Amino acid sequence: MAIPPFSFLFIIFATLLFPLSYSIPFIVLHGIGDQCSNRGVKTFTEELISYSGVKGYCVEVGNGSWDSWFLPLSEQTNIVCEKVKQMKELEGGYNIVGLSQGNLIGRGVVEFCEGGPPIKNFISLAGPHAGTASVPLCGSGIFCILADSLIKGPVYSDYIQEHLAPSGYLKLPNAIPDYLEKCRFLPVLNNEIPAKRNCTYKERFSSLQNLVLIMGNFLVWILP
Ligand SMILES: *[C@@H]1O[C@H](CO)[C@@H](O)[C@H](O)[C@H]1NC(C)=O
Ligand SMILES: *[C@@H]1O[C@H](CO)[C@@H](O)[C@H](O)[C@H]1NC(C)=O
Repeated sequence: MAIPPFSFLFIIFATLLFPLSYSIPFIVLHGIGDQCSNRGVKTFTEELISYSGVKGYCVEVGNGSWDSWFLPLSEQTNIVCEKVKQMKELEGGYNIVGLSQGNLIGRGVVEFCEGGPPIKNFISLAGPHAGTASVPLCGSGIFCILADSLIKGPVYSDYIQEHLAPSGYLKLPNAIPDYLEKCRFLPVLNNEIPAKRNCTYKERFSSLQNLVLIMGNFLVWILP
């Protein structure tokens, strides 16, 4: 589990965010290949709760690792959107803590989720907000054979856009026109397509009280 020393992160959380938002609950959105039941994310969430003294919840997408790889990010966003609407605990507003890919889902919820509870603050740990130029090979899990074969395919094809989550934020520097035209998630999220810019997304994103972006390649791909 490639989670950095907790103390470092918790000092950041405690000093930057939680004093501003005391008693506002938070949700954690984990990275690719991970799931809420994994020890790393579980410990991370628990430690944040005890360190900050506020309630926090890891929100799962489908069955976890598998869906984090294979469900398109727009669908992952819809799932989280529906879940946060059902959570009574969040009715008065909440904060989002994103890990890696989870940040794009979080920002999708900020921008696209109609009628969800208000999001106050967003803390992003190693979020690929401007896309990535390559997808890491999946590793040794049982589903990695499938993931790795998709990664090597034509990433902006309909098939891969529909079946490989990271293809939604793969921004290949040598294929920008293709990216703008066929990549289904990030260009919309970032309002990058001139003819389809939507000021509602911008308004929602800029209505956050605080946005904390923490850079670091240590968290870019958290794999179990
Ligand atoms: C997870 O759910 C998907 C459907 O979204 C299913 O196709 C897949 O087999 C499931 N994987 C595991 C490991 O349960
Ligand atoms: C912008 O997005 C909002 C919210 O999803 C939607 O209601 C609206 O129709 C969109 N506007 C344009 C011009 O596409």
